[in-house]
Amino acid sequence: MKKDFVLEDKTEWARFATFVPNKHLPVYNWFYYKEGFSRFLVSELLKKFKIKKGLVLDPFCGVGTTNLVCKEKGIDSVGFDISPIALFAARVKTRDYDVEKLKRTLSKLKKVKFKKPDILWISSKIRRFFNKHTLDDIVFFMDEVKRIDDPVVRDFFHLALITTAVRTSYIYKDGSVVKIRKHPVPPFRKVYFARTKRMMYDLKKIEFRPCKTIIEKCDARMMKLDNNVIDAIITSPPYLNKIEYTKIYRIEELLFFGIASREIGIRSYIGLKADTKKLFPELPDVANAYFSDMKKVLEEMWRVTKDNVKIAIVVGNGCFSNRVVESDILLSYLARDIGFRVKKIIVLNKRWCMKNRVVKVGKLRESLLIMEK
Ligand SMILES: C[S@@+](CC[C@H](N)C(=O)[O-])C[C@H]1O[C@@H](n2cnc3c(N)ncnc32)[C@H](O)[C@@H]1O
Repeated sequence: MKKDFVLEDKTEWARFATFVPNKHLPVYNWFYYKEGFSRFLVSELLKKFKIKKGLVLDPFCGVGTTNLVCKEKGIDSVGFDISPIALFAARVKTRDYDVEKLKRTLSKLKKVKFKKPDILWISSKIRRFFNKHTLDDIVFFMDEVKRIDDPVVRDFFHLALITTAVRTSYIYKDGSVVKIRKHPVPPFRKVYFARTKRMMYDLKKIEFRPCKTIIEKCDARMMKLDNNVIDAIITSPPYLNKIEYTKIYRIEELLFFGIASREIGIRSYIGLKADTKKLFPELPDVANAYFSDMKKVLEEMWRVTKDNVKIAIVVGNGCFSNRVVESDILLSYLARDIGFRVKKIIVLNKRWCMKNRVVKVGKLRESLLIMEK
């Protein structure tokens, strides 16, 4: 199968397919998103594609890495996603701020006298992830932040509140499972004020050029875009059989948005609906659901892009108990059938697909597909 496409090894770039390099970058690190990719990768792709202006699309924008890089370079961009928390982080990270206004709000917040808030509305399922005093503090500041008039300033403090709450909680994310791990926690207010201060300082360290950034809630299978308007796509869809993010942000979503992705529409996630026509009958139902969804996304990519546009897609292969599904190659076939010219499959990472954490099923690739309309 592989001989239809050129596979190029670039495993020295493995870490750039992850969010890890962003951990120390101002603004990029305002919300740690395990599913994200790195600033470096997007920046290299924009250089390779020679994109200096125009409109760049990321239909699975997550916390807005592609859009943030575009904003640094002064390139207009659109980001779509369906996760409320990722969209919120992406918006807050890609806005312009008046730092003096943020500073004034922080000093006001510091002066407000603590009053015990009502936490009865919080279910015991959430409460057990927090020390009681920490939760009082979180809800107290949540109410204070809600009172901030300016929506841009309000969202800035709200994002800091979410990340500080996780930092000072007993939440422990172990792969796709959220566990409780009790440990001494630092005082919430101290961490919260330090975090907002650091975020303000970050804004001095990053330089944005004038451009338009649109972050919108939208299903990548039905993009809210006209035909032939996009000049490049840099993206990474959910990986086959890996849908952790529908669960691991549940506590934050319930506490801060009053919703959880799984409740608002689990079916809106790619690859969860199994009653579709089988594109690859030899594959498990969940894989067919995934590829049928991804086919719709590729068709949408074809529709919204101008001619000769370059597209980069970071995707991982699927790990099943009895086999590896080569998503990079199968997606390349689907793209080719639609009309795309698949230029290269660049292998960024290889690791074992394990059954029950002990039996090696096969090697999994994480690849960068480069194609052209
Ligand atoms: C691999 S992550 C992309 C992360 C992104 N590159 C970043 O750096 O933050 C895939 C994203 O697809 C989103 N997603 C899943 N199903 C979607 C759909 N039907 N339409 C749009 N986005 C979707 C998930 O919420 C997740 O944020």
